[in-house]
Amino acid sequence: WSRTVRRDGDALSVGGVPVGELAERFGTPLYVVDEEDARSRAAEVRTAFERAFADIGTAAKVYYAGKAFLSVEVARWMDAAGLFIDVCSGGELAVALAAGVDPERLGFHGNNKSLAEIDRAVSVGVGAIVIDSIQEIDRVAAAAERHGVVQSVRLRVNSGVHAHTHAFLATSHEDQKFGIALEHAVDAVGRIRSHPSLAFRGLHCHIGSQIFGADGFAESAARLLSLHAQLLEGGDVPELNLGGGFGIAYTSADDPAPIDELAHRIAETVAAGCEQLGIPAPVVAFEPGRSIIGTAGLTLYTVGTTKDVPVAFQDDGETAVRRYVSVDGGMSDNARPALYEAEYSARIANRTSTAAPALVRVAGKHCESGDIVVNAEYLPGDVTPGDLLAVPATGAYCWSLASNYNFLGRPPVVAVRDGDARVIVRGETIDDLLARDAAYDPAAARPL
Ligand code: LLP
Repeated sequence: WSRTVRRDGDALSVGGVPVGELAERFGTPLYVVDEEDARSRAAEVRTAFERAFADIGTAAKVYYAGKAFLSVEVARWMDAAGLFIDVCSGGELAVALAAGVDPERLGFHGNNKSLAEIDRAVSVGVGAIVIDSIQEIDRVAAAAERHGVVQSVRLRVNSGVHAHTHAFLATSHEDQKFGIALEHAVDAVGRIRSHPSLAFRGLHCHIGSQIFGADGFAESAARLLSLHAQLLEGGDVPELNLGGGFGIAYTSADDPAPIDELAHRIAETVAAGCEQLGIPAPVVAFEPGRSIIGTAGLTLYTVGTTKDVPVAFQDDGETAVRRYVSVDGGMSDNARPALYEAEYSARIANRTSTAAPALVRVAGKHCESGDIVVNAEYLPGDVTPGDLLAVPATGAYCWSLASNYNFLGRPPVVAVRDGDARVIVRGETIDDLLARDAAYDPAAARPL
């Protein structure tokens, strides 16, 4: 739960605003972002890394990974907290620029950036482009030449570390699309260095997402440092970017290590590696998204129907009842359970109840049986249509992965703070969706 969630009388409040008031003013489903939580975590993550690396005599830089959730407002919060911002498409770049972020403070990622995206990034002067393929080296070089600039670049390599996370979230084992194999990296850097319009600024690696321990990061840092040391022979290599991926608690079963503990473990590994290799420690950069914005968000839903479904369990042949509680959103506002079997929790938010708990499955309203919001949760047995459900930890990869499946508009995002609530991203209406349908003629159709 975000930090300002409170029990306020019988109901929950967040950022000092009762959830009932939020539902009434903005409707449900509703994404709610706790501004205080997002800003304070951004500052804490930055401080944790800066301190840990100051202790080993070097500096750390923290980028906010915009893919987790980016809007003009959020980009400004991150900027104000002193974070750099990592974008991975022309769209995310446009949002960061629209927020007024200094392009120098942006990193640009992507395994298949278009020529137009590369051109735009170079022309606005992004701080670094993270090169992800051999072809891209010449593309970025050509764009930099066209614009008469020297573009700073990093090279994303694949450290081969197997992160302990869902297979779809792991990105640095050998057989996947990101980065360049370690054994090809020296040649790739040679090619970068052969272009006068490019400045090689260091290696990058991202091992995956929703990772709880420090081991994978430490292992990846150790592997990259040997390569980093080798590259120092050809010139300056100021930075090493170890990516993001720090996990958060979605349910009480999740127990991620505190970020300062992780920062210290990684810093110690970097210090030990540099000492062994006899090299100075580089500036080390990180790109967390989820661990900054994930817990700041919650989603409010209204319960529409409940059903007790007899379920035959195959192993013992016994029949039990599973209570399906259906809400007014689902996989269109949170695709993560359907995509990754991600687990969430839920709570009745508009009242307290003393009813005995019942094991329920919270489902969405989409035409798809995999449309699950919370797979298994104990809720008071009297959960009933009209109740508000709050699902915590939906700040990352929910709005950003949202869709219009079944022609549902994406819900608005409301920021709450000190008793105030304001829309930071407007919700979509059916007019918005139909406006893109080229055959739709509002004059000829029935009123919506
Ligand atoms: N840097 C790079 C290069 C990345 O690819 C990512 C995430 C991050 C940083 C930020 O990772 P974070 O700190 O947020 O874990 N849709 C999935 C997550 C995909 C992550 C993609 N890359 C999910 O909902 O779990």
